[in-house]
Amino acid sequence: MESMQNNDIQCRVVKMGPEDIDSLRELEALCFDYHWTEEQFRLGLERGAFHVLGIKCGNRISGYLAYSILLDEMEILNLGVRPEERRKGIARKLMQSLLQKCRDMGIQKGFLDVKRSNTPAISLYESFGFKQTGVRKKYYPDTKEDALLYDLDLSQT
Ligand SMILES: CC(C)(COP(=O)(O)OP(=O)(O)OC[C@H]1O[C@@H](n2cnc3c(N)ncnc32)[C@H](O)[C@@H]1OP(=O)(O)O)[C@@H](O)C(=O)NCCC(=O)NCCS
Repeated sequence: MESMQNNDIQCRVVKMGPEDIDSLRELEALCFDYHWTEEQFRLGLERGAFHVLGIKCGNRISGYLAYSILLDEMEILNLGVRPEERRKGIARKLMQSLLQKCRDMGIQKGFLDVKRSNTPAISLYESFGFKQTGVRKKYYPDTKEDALLYDLDLSQT
């Protein structure tokens, strides 16, 4: 898969597997207040309910992107980058890698939801052409914040 440079360290986008669950849980705890359980990660990584791309810089996972695919649709479930490694293009690289993969697979549509206050993530998604299609009021269990719903027509990009 694709690679990039982070300072002097070589970073690679890699497919995460069950052996990465501990590292992913540690990274997720740094990125979110609301955490997936080990069981939820196992559901994805062992049983295929969803997939995870990671960026490994040296031996460490610096960021990850969880997504699911159903027929010709893709949904972004989670995306996080280590706080000290933000604003270096890691999330952009993960998104580029995922969207290229989707195009190669003939996926037509991408979906996601994001907290209304999450300006960094909204800016990132909009820069890839995601368009807001709706709002789900008080959607998130942790903060009761509204979810903004976005989609992307992959056949047009
Ligand atoms: C959102 C997040 C994944 C971005 O990761 P990142 O690696 O820092 O992002 P990148 O460096 O690749 O930036 C790509 C684009 O995202 C947007 N962006 C990232 N951080 C931003 C910030 N603090 N303010 C505004 N825009 C920001 C910009 O459009 C940026 O493009 P630019 O650098 O050309 O301006 C990261 O801030 C994060 O992990 N946040 C906590 C978890 C989270 O909220 N995840 C999203 C859940 S929906």
